[in-house]
Amino acid sequence: MVIRSTWNRCCSAHDRDLKCHIKTGFVLLVALTLSLSVIFFVYDFSFNPVKDRHAWFNLVNKTHKSYNVVTEGLSGKRFVWNFATNRQIIQTITAQKHHILVHHHVAHPSNYHFLLDEPDKCRQWDPFLVFMVPVAPHQVEARNAIRSTWGNESSVQGKAVLTLFLVGLTGGPEAQQKLEEESRQHRDLVQSNFVDSYFNLTIKTMVIMDWLATRCPQASYAMKVDSDMYINVENLLSLLLAPNTPRENYITGYLMWDQNVIRNKKSKYYVSEDLYPASKYPTYVLGVGYVFSNDLPKKVVDASKDMKPFNIEDAYMGTCLKRLGIKPSRAPDPSQFQTYMKDSKGHDLSKVITTIARSPKQIIEFWQKVKRHK
Ligand SMILES: *[C@@H]1O[C@H](CO)[C@@H](O)[C@H](O)[C@H]1NC(C)=O
Ligand SMILES: *[C@@H]1O[C@H](CO)[C@@H](O)[C@H](O)[C@H]1NC(C)=O
Ligand SMILES: *[C@@H]1O[C@H](CO)[C@@H](O)[C@H](O)[C@H]1NC(C)=O
Repeated sequence: MVIRSTWNRCCSAHDRDLKCHIKTGFVLLVALTLSLSVIFFVYDFSFNPVKDRHAWFNLVNKTHKSYNVVTEGLSGKRFVWNFATNRQIIQTITAQKHHILVHHHVAHPSNYHFLLDEPDKCRQWDPFLVFMVPVAPHQVEARNAIRSTWGNESSVQGKAVLTLFLVGLTGGPEAQQKLEEESRQHRDLVQSNFVDSYFNLTIKTMVIMDWLATRCPQASYAMKVDSDMYINVENLLSLLLAPNTPRENYITGYLMWDQNVIRNKKSKYYVSEDLYPASKYPTYVLGVGYVFSNDLPKKVVDASKDMKPFNIEDAYMGTCLKRLGIKPSRAPDPSQFQTYMKDSKGHDLSKVITTIARSPKQIIEFWQKVKRHK
């Protein structure tokens, strides 16, 4: 209606000049752009919005004249949209660096050892809950955002809480030196000697499990949580301290049911039939944040000894749990485990346990919103 009335007013009999057509063209252009983004948005996110979390709009370049938006579909194809010219430039980036050449990797933590460790931390703190955050060595900003927000909540509802970061190998001696400096300053880094890469996230998770099993068996619960997450520790503690929450063989978060194994070689989620022959994964908990009773790490590490690892860490956890006969639990209020929130008002954030933040800055913003809302 709005478009039409503008149109009529503009292109009336009194006004047939060039300006009028330019204006109309502009309105149509805007409408076309909007509908294209809506179509693309729906196509890309409605079928599998969670598994494909990395497909979220990724604003790579914003200048005063134009900006590009990159999306990555389930097929692993990447599209670059240039909004200023309203041309849809499709670049299929073929030789993707994560194209899997390595068909087998050894995930069992006994193959690795710790370069940086905090072996006495749990004895000193006696934590009820431990957050283990897998993060790349260079992501200092993400670590600092967590350190200054939810990672700094060391005592919640009378329970000790501990946050540690797990990294793999750095790129070189200079980066290593920086990391060791950071470790001396904060005493919250654990480093293991595997190559730190997206493909190796399963190794990272298994090393986290190994650390919990060997360095922190006294904790009651632990949570593996990605470095781009906002965590409402208060709400998580309420869940864990509720009388009905099991103290053993327990894992919960955002449950993934009936997920197909991705066989498209261009996808970063590709898993070969050789590594995982079945066509579906067992129910597992989405890797952005899963919380579990701390008896599980040892059991999972033991179970993984004679299981073939594959590169999807959360689905691999699911297969280890299935082997153990442990079913992920549905959270009492599943809506507390959010992925991307449409609106993130302080009111909604004060109810959740997890949600994905789009940047370290947003972690801080979310945390402040909740503090203000109180
Ligand atoms: C963004 O575009 C400008 C100009 O086209 C270019 O100089 C700059 O390197 C680009 N930035 C990124 C992050 O790609
Ligand atoms: C953690 O919180 C304490 C007060 O509770 C504060 O003094 C300290 O600066 C905080 N640490 C960071 C890294 O923000
Ligand atoms: C995974 O880590 C192992 C052990 O460090 C390494 O040999 C392998 O190259 C890594 N793979 C990738 C794809 O990074």
